[in-house]
Amino acid sequence: MLEFLCPLPVEIHSLFPTVVATERMAMDPLTLARQLQTLLGLQGEAINNPDAGCAWTGDLHGVWQLHQHHDFQSLADEVIARVWMYLERTGFDLDQIALHLQRCWPVLSTAGQVVGRHHHPNAHVSAVVYLSGDGEGREGSLCLHAKHQLNELVPGLAVGFGGPIQDHHPLNQRVWTFNPEPGLLVIFPSRLDHSVAENQDEESVRVSISFDFVLTAQASRGPAEYVSPHPDQWHQCQRPLS
Ligand SMILES: [Fe+2]
Repeated sequence: MLEFLCPLPVEIHSLFPTVVATERMAMDPLTLARQLQTLLGLQGEAINNPDAGCAWTGDLHGVWQLHQHHDFQSLADEVIARVWMYLERTGFDLDQIALHLQRCWPVLSTAGQVVGRHHHPNAHVSAVVYLSGDGEGREGSLCLHAKHQLNELVPGLAVGFGGPIQDHHPLNQRVWTFNPEPGLLVIFPSRLDHSVAENQDEESVRVSISFDFVLTAQASRGPAEYVSPHPDQWHQCQRPLS
C-alpha cells in the first residue's frame, strides 16, 4: 500500500491556463442610476427571451449598439481600454491587430430567470460589466464552464454518477463562478462556455452589459495567415438576380 504521509518530491505543473480578467471598476452612483433607468426604458414591455424562464437580452430585441448611446459611451471606452490590456497581457502584438467592438447589449433577468450555457461564436473576446448585485450571488452568478475537466485524463471520465474525481478539486475544476456587483468587469475568450444562474432575489432585477469584440489585421498591414483582413478591405458580394 502506498504511503503519502511523507510526500515524494513530485512537482505538479499546471499547463495551458485560460486567461480571464476581472476588475472592480468605480461606478458613479448618479451615472449608474441613469443607466439603469435608460435600460429599463429600452427593455419596454418584453421581459424574457422568449421563454419565461430566460432572461431578456437586448441583442434579440434590437438593442445591441449601446456603445453608441450617450449614457454608455464612456463605459464602453473604459471596457475597450481594458480589452486592449487583456490582449497585451496574453501575448498579442498590438501593432499587428485591429480591435473591433461588434456589439454591446444589455441583459436583464428577474426572479426565476436564467441564461443557458452558451458561447459567442461570432466573436473573439467577450466582456461583461454588471450594474447590479450585492456580491453574494442571489441575483444569479456568472458561471464559466470548462469544456471538460482538464485533468480527468480522458474527456468524459469524470462524467456520470460516482465519478472518481473529488468535487471542486483545484486541478479538476468544472466551473468558475463570479457574483455580480456594480462595476464588476469580466473579460474572457468568446469560445468559453458560460451561463447565468437563476435570479433568486424576488426584489431585484439583475442587470449586466455584454460586449463582443473581433480581432482583424490592421488595414495598413494586410492579413496574417489566420487573421482576417481589416473589414474596410472586404468585398461584399451581391446576390445574383433570379
Ligand atoms: Fe454570453
